[in-house]
Amino acid sequence: MNRPLLIGPFTQLLPMTGLPLKGALKDEQLAVIENGGILVSEGKILKVGVFDELKSDDVDIHHIEGQQVCLPGFVDSHTHICFGGTRARDYAYRNAGKTYLEIAKAGGGIWDTVTQTRKASQEELVKGIVSRSKKHLKNGITTIEVKSGYGLSVDEELKMLRAIKRANKTTNASLVPTCLAAHMKPKDWSEDNDYLDTIINELFPIIKTENLANRVDAFVEESAFSPEEIKPYFQKAKEMGFDITVHADQFTTGGSQVAVDFDAVSADHLEASTEKEIRLLAKSNTIATALPGASIGLGCAYTPARKILDAGGALSIASDHNPGSAPMGDLLTQASILGTFEKLSNTEVLAGITSRAAAALRLSDRGKLEEGAQADFVVFPTDNYQEITYHQGQLKPHMVWKKGKHIH
Ligand code: NIG
Ligand code: FE
Repeated sequence: MNRPLLIGPFTQLLPMTGLPLKGALKDEQLAVIENGGILVSEGKILKVGVFDELKSDDVDIHHIEGQQVCLPGFVDSHTHICFGGTRARDYAYRNAGKTYLEIAKAGGGIWDTVTQTRKASQEELVKGIVSRSKKHLKNGITTIEVKSGYGLSVDEELKMLRAIKRANKTTNASLVPTCLAAHMKPKDWSEDNDYLDTIINELFPIIKTENLANRVDAFVEESAFSPEEIKPYFQKAKEMGFDITVHADQFTTGGSQVAVDFDAVSADHLEASTEKEIRLLAKSNTIATALPGASIGLGCAYTPARKILDAGGALSIASDHNPGSAPMGDLLTQASILGTFEKLSNTEVLAGITSRAAAALRLSDRGKLEEGAQADFVVFPTDNYQEITYHQGQLKPHMVWKKGKHIH
């Protein structure tokens, strides 16, 4: 066994431990270790504490120079970074005032990306995922959820999920795959129900056999699947042991009720959620995920994050990085901006992209710096953690460590 490595000292070390999963958080609750250090062995954290107290003759030391703030590697719990093509035309049309329907008629919308993704080879998709992951890694995101959903047939969904699995072996980031075969009704299927039946009976078993994902997602929305239509899909997914996550309440409500009914790990979007849905989610085990990148990309309202937290809900914040509604893909910028519009404390924003985001993916070994966790952490060149959200994504990480290795 290699000798443990002590990394530090950090002017401030934010372990993100000791915070409740649910409810509002004040900055007074945030643990800050001054002159902190992290002791790492075999890619995992042995100890976190004051640097000088962790020093011994038995450890090697990686000295950190200057003023630095260290926190857990960020977790992006909702992305669609596996895709082909671009939707710049949709963006221009939207900003010119064209409606959703007009854009769809002009050949835009999710179906456009389906067409472009189907044209891409598996190799091309792998390249795209790896290059987008690299950008994320540089910004301190060490774990990235990635959805399928631009294939919308058994073979094309498999192509996407296999590409995500292959990309996971190439990139230093950890990719968490999710099957989103119910992203919309494929335009080349005459019977909608047949499509979901085929997915349930043919795709789900292959996903299990090839171990391609353990999470299943659907877009519950008027333009996609109604709460009634999606039930058999989630029912079967649950029976087969998949975790459930839902694109819910983006434009119309209904999805969050489905999420709670199926005890989903997360309900994502929620821009249209009213008091009723907020109360429902707050009482449940389902984590609410805000996607400010989609609000910025579409010019829509933000998820009512303040109300969700005040009602006692758990809030994750993710980028939703996708070619249609959220092309920017910069999680820290988006989370910081959500903070300004929704009046979130630094602790709420930072928990939303670390500990609470990890919980939204049911990953208990990251999102916090504590004994036994993966040694994933990000280091910013400042002496005060408040500078991180203050610069709204423009203060870039000085270093990123993944599984105990300095990768950026
Ligand atoms: O999360 N809302 C549905 N799905 C994506 C958008 C995908 C797209 O427009 O390509 C989302 O925003
Ligand atoms: Fe999404």
